[in-house]
Amino acid sequence: MAFTFFFRDTQTLELVAQYALPSLKQNRYIRVWDAGCAMGPEPYSIAIIFRENMGHFLFRNVQIHATDIDESNFESIIQRGVYSEQELGRIPRDIFGKYFAPDGAPGYFQISDELRQAVRFYRHDLLSLQPIREDFGLIVCKNVLLHFKAEQRVQVIQMFHRALVEGGYLVMEQTQKLPSELSPLFRQVTEAAQLYQKVG
Ligand SMILES: C[S@@+](CC[C@H](N)C(=O)[O-])C[C@H]1O[C@@H](n2cnc3c(N)ncnc32)[C@H](O)[C@@H]1O
Repeated sequence: MAFTFFFRDTQTLELVAQYALPSLKQNRYIRVWDAGCAMGPEPYSIAIIFRENMGHFLFRNVQIHATDIDESNFESIIQRGVYSEQELGRIPRDIFGKYFAPDGAPGYFQISDELRQAVRFYRHDLLSLQPIREDFGLIVCKNVLLHFKAEQRVQVIQMFHRALVEGGYLVMEQTQKLPSELSPLFRQVTEAAQLYQKVG
């Protein structure tokens, strides 16, 4: 499974919290699809940043559906939520102390039950062009679409559009611009990130 780590591109996730979270909090459930989640650091980082921005009671309504085509580490690493010190190194110390506890083996830490309960993992192939559900408030797809052909990128983003509720958000990595033919479907929320809101 591919390279990834905790708090990769924190700036984008902080912008999601700043611009999208206030409207997502208005709904009964805050449903997030993390498409191409690799070994789990990204969905758990989203969970941490959301939890930092809301109380325990509201956080119980957060459901992060994390998918990847490669399920080889789902049971052994992701569902246990156990990671090595090196993978966790970018998490600020005060935040780390709140959500991780030693796992027994030296240098390994387990993420808290509260965060693990917010994240579910499934195998899913984005190129099937079938969304896992169609009621997401936020879709996060970072460092995945660059591996696809231009035509496939357009088809996958059209699928994301279907999978979002009216006014829902899509965020991609900073270098992944929205293909111009899809501009009627989304408005860019801030110049500082590839963060879009469904409009069409
Ligand atoms: C570089 S990692 C990105 C991980 C994470 N999103 C991040 O930015 O740190 C790319 C991930 O996309 C997954 N992937 C590649 N093709 C896919 C497909 N067709 N459907 C779903 N996931 C796919 C890979 O298995 C890999 O875990």
